[in-house]
Amino acid sequence: MPDPEPVHHRLTQWYRHAQRDLPWRREDCSAWGVFVSEVMLQQTPVQRVLPRWQEWMRRWPTPADCAAAGTAELLQVWDRLGYPRRALRLQQAAAAMVERHGGEVPADPDLLRALPGVGEYTAAAVACFAFGVPEVVVDTNIRRVHARVFAGDPLPGKTYTAQQRRLARDVFPDPEIDDGGLACTWNIAAMELGALVCTAASPDCARCPVAQLCAWRAAGYPEPTEQQRGRGQPWAGTDRQVRGRIMAVLRQGVPVPRSELLAQLGLPSASAEQRARCLDSLLSDGLAETDGEQVALPGSLEPAASA
Ligand code: ADE
Repeated sequence: MPDPEPVHHRLTQWYRHAQRDLPWRREDCSAWGVFVSEVMLQQTPVQRVLPRWQEWMRRWPTPADCAAAGTAELLQVWDRLGYPRRALRLQQAAAAMVERHGGEVPADPDLLRALPGVGEYTAAAVACFAFGVPEVVVDTNIRRVHARVFAGDPLPGKTYTAQQRRLARDVFPDPEIDDGGLACTWNIAAMELGALVCTAASPDCARCPVAQLCAWRAAGYPEPTEQQRGRGQPWAGTDRQVRGRIMAVLRQGVPVPRSELLAQLGLPSASAEQRARCLDSLLSDGLAETDGEQVALPGSLEPAASA
């Protein structure tokens, strides 16, 4: 396993300049704002959460405001974030904060965990991101980064195993360093790497700050096993995988002749028909462009010279 220390160093340095500017990460965001964001982000992508979070915080800037809101209004503002029971639990948690904690979000992970709808992840994330408590935070993005960088596995599998929990603890920075600051930055940096670079479908190793240290890369990128792929999430052989490989080639930034592109995907089981279909779908989605011969990312081909 790679030594965690240089990984901490490179990844937290990378995070300082590569991080997205998200309102719940700003210095002036309240603990309640962080709490609301973590509940919304659990099953919903950042871009869909952003406007809903803004609206939620505008209407209910404190737990007491939220606890007093009408349910219909809550659900309207929740809109299409999905799993609307989360909105109701968020309000129950706000009411519990008013009853038990003087209307404040508690900083103690055990008190957070005791709030309605708050699980291990949310408690650790809020303690860490709102209060700087050096808790081990593990979400799907972080699990994938740990699996690849330290264990050499392509994917972590669907369930969070005892072994993965041990790994997350083993690679966690010493909470004494920088008053827990390194540990908290490590959590968010690993999450951001998983979201932006070390993605499930098409990891962008050329942009990865820890590629040179990565055990998965050193092992030659073994393919995931059935179990790692996770039941219910078929992956190998799907069009999503083929599209991901095509995009990975195009992201290298050099136009490629169509036949060469389709030949170099490293997926021997994908038929010529599936490859062509996937490329066509990327072209019609506007994710790639072609002049009939070369294929490239949108906007990177010379306009054809007029005759
Ligand atoms: N920043 C803090 N927590 C986050 C999360 N769960 N997803 C995306 N960005 C975050």
